[in-house]
Amino acid sequence: MSALLEEINKRKTFAIISHPDAGKTTLTEKFLLFGGAIHTAGAVKSNKIKKTATSDFMEIEKQRGISVATSVMGFEYKDTLINLLDTPGHKDFAEDTYRTLTAVDSVVLVVDCVKGVEEQTERLMEVCRMRDTPVMIFVNKLDRPGKDPFDLLDELETKLDIKVRPLTWPINMGERFKGVYNVYDNNLLLFSVNKTKVADDQVLIEDLNDPRLVGLIGEEDADQLREDIELINGVYEDFDAKDYENARIAPVFFGSAVNNFGVKELLEAFVRYAPTPVSRPTNQGEIAPTDKKFSGFVFKIHANLDPKHRDRIAFLRVCSGTFERNKFFHHVRLGKKLRFSNPASFMAQRKETVEEAYAGDVIGLYDTGNFKIGDTLTEGSDFMFKGIPSFSPEIFRELLNKDPMKTKQLEKGIRQLTEEGVAQLFIMNYGSAKIVGTVGELQFDVIKYRLEHEYGAKCEFVAKSFHKACWITSDDQKKLDDFKRVKGNFMAKDKDDLDVFLAQTPWILKVEQENNPDIKFHFNSEFK
Ligand code: G4P
Repeated sequence: MSALLEEINKRKTFAIISHPDAGKTTLTEKFLLFGGAIHTAGAVKSNKIKKTATSDFMEIEKQRGISVATSVMGFEYKDTLINLLDTPGHKDFAEDTYRTLTAVDSVVLVVDCVKGVEEQTERLMEVCRMRDTPVMIFVNKLDRPGKDPFDLLDELETKLDIKVRPLTWPINMGERFKGVYNVYDNNLLLFSVNKTKVADDQVLIEDLNDPRLVGLIGEEDADQLREDIELINGVYEDFDAKDYENARIAPVFFGSAVNNFGVKELLEAFVRYAPTPVSRPTNQGEIAPTDKKFSGFVFKIHANLDPKHRDRIAFLRVCSGTFERNKFFHHVRLGKKLRFSNPASFMAQRKETVEEAYAGDVIGLYDTGNFKIGDTLTEGSDFMFKGIPSFSPEIFRELLNKDPMKTKQLEKGIRQLTEEGVAQLFIMNYGSAKIVGTVGELQFDVIKYRLEHEYGAKCEFVAKSFHKACWITSDDQKKLDDFKRVKGNFMAKDKDDLDVFLAQTPWILKVEQENNPDIKFHFNSEFK
């Protein structure tokens, strides 16, 4: 095996996603504990934005900005180098999460057993399905009286639109929750409840008829477990790892992250089944991780909030070849040679300078304004990675300049913030009004604050009653031109100069779709 292939096969890059409060941070922490990357609980800070007055922007930023160190957490488990990419929990930053999902090879989805599948979980799963990302599901908080596990499996299948296969199974729940039976290895590891370290006192049962089972969990639970396992093996097809890799089936694990139940089983299955770095689509075909020449793309940009240090960190996912410190690489969009003397890698909570990086790794590149989200870096080739979509924003406001002396600063600021992915900017075809689109209210506070403090520009937002941004295309250029002319007042250009129709209401959108069958209305920019 070549040295490059050996490096690639060691790596697994994934993200944990969940509806806020389901237990993402807790599960992350337990993974890091098992990986030996941290030694005490509480070391991982939640990136959750606690409810604050929206005017308290710095507080929000402080909570959000815990981040650079925890954006990527590398740890090792059983000779596997695992890169765990963090995603913001707050709904208003959902776009950040969608973009992070383009940089991973698989996902662990956490669901709260009391609440079941929540709205945000459904949307995140849609994004996973768009690119056939393999998903493992962890049903958390079994120490609370939640929904019946069989009902939960049904709910997962219907709401997430994917077939499921339990690979572990809970023994009772709520106060009487005792642990999980490992269906794929047919064994049982009973942990004692221990919130601060990985427990050593495990009992291994390798056969459901082992007489010790009754002694350990009681006759009633032992009977119930045997019955459940028989039912599961009867109802659900055998687990086929290929189906998981192809995103046709999601294995399900049960447990209680905070009590360390079921976490090890999940991690073991993860290192066993989760994919190593996979090929990625470009505008010139797929690029395999084993391709000898380096390539990668930027999926996230983190601004330095200190106005005295304007540099940013661009997070780059390595897709092929070997990244080397101080070597010149090709910035495809700018046609420019760049080299990096101080690239950062992220092991657990430490940030270190990295000499080399391989497919699956995420590195941080200090940037003075060369990068925007989606940029490709190569060893000389001119292809560009595809698939960092923009989704239609949900709130639209017009950006007004409050200080005509600072027009240039405002223009520069809003352009840079858009490049960082804080919000989307649409320029109206008639009159060139700037329409800022976001997923949540918080972003408007972020933009206002940052324009003022980092660029010295003052702005105001005026609500616009748009319902959706639709990217429009047509095979019939004339029809497209006609539509753009007739609908001129609602036509805009996005950051890549693509045509966008801003529909005012769902009804108007429906009518336009019906009246213009030759025009395609896209709800994200991924059709490119
Ligand atoms: P998130 O990142 O997905 O938003 O969730 P996080 O891990 O922060 O967990 C949300 C809350 O759920 C936390 O409680 C956490 O302790 C709790 N939790 C996590 N796993 C379990 C579990 O297995 N069982 C139970 N019962 N609770 C669990 P909190 O009160 O918000 O914070 P904390 O002060 O307890 O840390």
